[in-house]
Amino acid sequence: MGTVIGVFSAKGGVGKTLLATNLAAACGVGYHKKTVLVDLNIGNGTTDLLLNLSPERYWSDLGSVFQELTPQHLSLTITEYRPDLDLLASPPDLIKTEVIKMEDLSLLFSALKKVYDLIILDTPSGVDPPVRGCLALAEIKLMVLTPDAPTLRSTSRFLNALPNSKKTNGLIINQYSPAAAITPEEVKDHLGEPVFGVLPIDQAGVWANVSYGEPCVFRKSSKLGRSIRQLSGRLLRLIDHGPENYSNEDDD
Ligand SMILES: Nc1ncnc2c1ncn2[C@@H]1O[C@H](COP(=O)(O)OP(=O)(O)OP(=O)(O)O)[C@@H](O)[C@H]1O
Ligand SMILES: [Mg+2]
Repeated sequence: MGTVIGVFSAKGGVGKTLLATNLAAACGVGYHKKTVLVDLNIGNGTTDLLLNLSPERYWSDLGSVFQELTPQHLSLTITEYRPDLDLLASPPDLIKTEVIKMEDLSLLFSALKKVYDLIILDTPSGVDPPVRGCLALAEIKLMVLTPDAPTLRSTSRFLNALPNSKKTNGLIINQYSPAAAITPEEVKDHLGEPVFGVLPIDQAGVWANVSYGEPCVFRKSSKLGRSIRQLSGRLLRLIDHGPENYSNEDDD
């Protein structure tokens, strides 16, 4: 059975889509885990651009068959990227698309888990539906933020709104530079959640990804790509061995 990994954030523009897409590329293409990237940003999805794909079908096309989803329905709806990585693209129509209901999300994820090892969710920012459903259903929750005061405050409020039990599997501090006003240690202390990864600011690596749809994890020269490859390895160890048995020091 596959594992659902949700990439979340309180504030927009912190790097969820870039991270979710590159995690999927590293796990699917690099580690040969059968992976599907699910883009939940209605009208606003950009995962297709970051993978240089032109989807013709979207998860909204499954609307009438959520109750009886088969692997064939899924294979007709995904856009193939490489043998071990598919995209379930977001519908382009901002107005006409209905937000996917929690029951349907649950049915969709159950069907995907029978076909894929990893189901990686790129979500819209905030806690409006369908993010609440994704938060409830994802087995692994990664919370992305940038190290600045407005994002820290929004993230704190987001975390406070979640149930008291296990809130996330860790924070991902993105666009970090040694000149940042807030250190990863301060972020961890302020938010009371573990830091799962720190990703550097890397304009050049991101530029190629956004302009040509070449994931930065495939670029040897990208320091962001390298950090996300390491993060993917850590994520796979977490899935395979549980939280007690992985350590950041195991990174290549
Ligand atoms: N580590 C980084 N270094 C440099 N630029 C980055 C980095 N991470 C993300 N960016 C850039 O920041 C912008 C926002 O990234 P992205 O679209 O992934 O954020 P998002 O959280 O998905 O936004 P939204 O909430 O709108 O969906 C993009 O132009 C992206 O290329
Ligand atoms: Mg996004």
